[in-house]
Amino acid sequence: MINNETHLLYSALCYEAGHGRRTQHILKVYALAKLLGEQAGISPEEQQILQAAAILHDIAIKYCKEHGDGDAGQEKQKQVAPQLVIPFLQNAEYLPSYIPKVLELVERHHDYDGPKSKLLQLLMEADLIVNCYESRPNHEKIPAIQAVFQTHAGKELLSLCLKDAAE
Ligand SMILES: [Fe+2]
Repeated sequence: MINNETHLLYSALCYEAGHGRRTQHILKVYALAKLLGEQAGISPEEQQILQAAAILHDIAIKYCKEHGDGDAGQEKQKQVAPQLVIPFLQNAEYLPSYIPKVLELVERHHDYDGPKSKLLQLLMEADLIVNCYESRPNHEKIPAIQAVFQTHAGKELLSLCLKDAAE
């Protein structure tokens, strides 16, 4: 049986059409968001919302690069997000009440300095850990990245990544 989440993940990977970096990024952030959510003991409903947001968090990048002037900056991604996130969730038959919650996480996942819900915190940590593995941060940027982290598991996994980068 194919559940909503499997349907969503499959359609997001098909949408990326084999783009190596973005396809692998989706899979990695999805796996880490699931782990961090379970470690934090969130509810099954919150877990579903977090995992859907992890699958879709960067979904606007491809559209932004292929339309208009190719600007895929964070503001442009926010503008485009609803027109992609909503139909992706509807096609995967997510509960309508989940859709605005997933969309908000997608839109705000780069707002490191703003107020953060528990789910936004978990999504940011998952994304930042994967980003650090994909592109090792400069020494000067590390304190700002560390400052975002609040969960025990997230801090631990980030420190392992940074420790390996330093060796
Ligand atoms: Fe990302």
